[in-house]
Amino acid sequence: MVTLRVNGEDRQADVPPDMPLLWVLRDVVGLTGTKFGCGIAQCGACTVHLDGQPVRSCQLPVSAVGDRAITTIEGIGATPEGTKVQQAWLAVDVVQCGYCQSGQIMAAAALLARTPNPTDRDIDAAMSGNICRCGTYVRIREAIKQAATGQPNGLQVIVDGGAA
Ligand code: FES
Ligand code: FES
Repeated sequence: MVTLRVNGEDRQADVPPDMPLLWVLRDVVGLTGTKFGCGIAQCGACTVHLDGQPVRSCQLPVSAVGDRAITTIEGIGATPEGTKVQQAWLAVDVVQCGYCQSGQIMAAAALLARTPNPTDRDIDAAMSGNICRCGTYVRIREAIKQAATGQPNGLQVIVDGGAA
């Protein structure tokens, strides 16, 4: 039996110690917002936070979590960065199919928590491990900048210019 602190609540799970955290969150705790993509720590779909740090939950044994606080996509909106990121994601209309987006938002929120005004290089470094098969990368970068500054950046101008 392990006790996990998930989104501010203690959750108990009777699981083997080597079960990946992703399985525990989805299949035992019932939080299915975190997604399974590759299963080998290469795509970022399964990103959650441990004490605010982004981790790949598909390759993390639940026994390695210890007493660190877990935040998932279901809880990130309760943090200041998560609120800003989610609002910017909606304003920029980032999402296409949506499958990668939980991980994208978790990675973006962690970036803004440690680097409130990220450069393009900071964004690329923080987000490069999060794969989007729909290619929403330009909108993701725009949304991160918008979340950081509270201001729209250049994307709308480009879109409007392209449509004219
Ligand atoms: S499912 Fe964990 S990184 Fe792809
Ligand atoms: S929005 Fe479809 S994979 Fe990213």
